[in-house]
Amino acid sequence: PPPALSLTGTFVLSVFTAVLGSLEFGYNIGVINAPQKMIEQDYNATWLQRYGEPIPSGTLTSLWSLSVAIFSIGGMLSAFCLGFVSEWLGRRKAMLINNLFAFIGGSLMALSKLCRSFEMMILGRFIIGAYCGLASGLTPMYVGEIAPTSLRGALGTLHQLAIVTGILIAQILGLEVLLGSQELWPVLLGLTVVPTVLQMSFLPFCPESPRFLYIVRCQEHQAKRGLRRLTGRQEVGDMLAEMKEEKRKMEMERKVSILELFRSPLYRQPIIISILLQLSQQLSGINAIFYYSTSIFIKAGVQSPVYATIGAGVINCAFTVVSLFLIERMGRRTLHMLGLGGMCICAVIMTMALALLDSVPWMSYICMLSIFGFVAFFEVGPGPIPWFFVAELFSQGPRPAAMAVAGFSNWTANFIIGMGFQYVADLCGPYVFLIFAVLLLFFLIFTFFRVPETRGKTFDQIAANFNERSVGGMMDMDMDMDLDKPSTELDYLGEESIN
Ligand SMILES: *[C@@H]1O[C@H](CO)[C@@H](O)[C@H](O)[C@H]1NC(C)=O
Repeated sequence: PPPALSLTGTFVLSVFTAVLGSLEFGYNIGVINAPQKMIEQDYNATWLQRYGEPIPSGTLTSLWSLSVAIFSIGGMLSAFCLGFVSEWLGRRKAMLINNLFAFIGGSLMALSKLCRSFEMMILGRFIIGAYCGLASGLTPMYVGEIAPTSLRGALGTLHQLAIVTGILIAQILGLEVLLGSQELWPVLLGLTVVPTVLQMSFLPFCPESPRFLYIVRCQEHQAKRGLRRLTGRQEVGDMLAEMKEEKRKMEMERKVSILELFRSPLYRQPIIISILLQLSQQLSGINAIFYYSTSIFIKAGVQSPVYATIGAGVINCAFTVVSLFLIERMGRRTLHMLGLGGMCICAVIMTMALALLDSVPWMSYICMLSIFGFVAFFEVGPGPIPWFFVAELFSQGPRPAAMAVAGFSNWTANFIIGMGFQYVADLCGPYVFLIFAVLLLFFLIFTFFRVPETRGKTFDQIAANFNERSVGGMMDMDMDMDLDKPSTELDYLGEESIN
């Protein structure tokens, strides 16, 4: 029997180093929330100095929304390059070089006040977004590849945990008594280079992913050496055999391009489901909370808005842990619907509370509680679940393309929320969350009718389920159709039966 699993120092260091990337991702999601007012004042001051008049409030909203949302454009672009970069440079070198982005982006943001330039701030947010797009893909990839099979699930959740911890750290440091003040907000934004420097100095001591070396690069010797370092064992034959098996399986399956994903009827339904689930995560309105909660709390008349934001961060962390246990026990589909339904109800309650605020002062507490509930339900369903679906609906061949499409839709929706929320909120006042409630209801109905349960099923079973639905329905119609007639549907049917 193989010797008992022991975690070596190298392994722990490698996981920790990689997860610093997720922490930094979370930090940059949460960091612009608390100091919004301070930074806006500085934009105003800069404008006044340059043009001799105060900034028009519409221009200020545009500049701020752009500073928030351009992060997602950076993320979107770099997430799209993930597959290419991670194969070309290797996982480890890609993480190392990616840190340059974080360093440049962090420095630009930190120096923007000194240089009196909101352009630097916006550019910095774009570059740090590019860092985050790559980091949010590289970290789970590397950790998943160096983890022994028995620990892969548990370690995979570290990524999610590090993100929410990063958000919380940013919210706490954003307190006005700490770094969220008029003088110190550049330090708050610049602190993002600390995990960068740590990651850069630790990475040289982490081995490249043996799975990558063996399966992609075919470097058996180096892969063995990496495995020995990670496990502390001399004899790694069993692990190598496992990788061989994985490589063999992968070679049996052809790589699928993004275009094929949409054209082939085999993949069309799963990819539409994946995209809609990603949209359900972002359009649920969660980032409206993470980017703008402080200003929402101010509007709601909550007495210490920044502490309420930190409360939301704590709830966010706590329920991420709760959901880790739930995911092992309950079906993905059930959890997703539970999360969407709960968020929808919380959004309605929040809207009512905001509307009644003028006549009933204690409504501000109801509003705060419903925001907490909103965040909690998010972490139960729409937070973690969509990524499980992408991984479970697609086998090795189409998975990289599917991941790229899913990532792209996620970042796009993220951008729409970051950019548009402030405008829509100014326009609709307290009723803005009703829009999210309607969207949440739509996604709930979609999940109920269209999304299959994937937990504990093999790819073949899931694929069979889709074929039954789409082809089964078509078959009935096709029975009395003229088979000679050229028809795209029939062409696809033919293609499918060959597969
Ligand atoms: C900009 O600053 C000026 C002068 O300090 C102030 O009167 C004005 O209200 C500010 N504008 C905005 C949009 O905050």
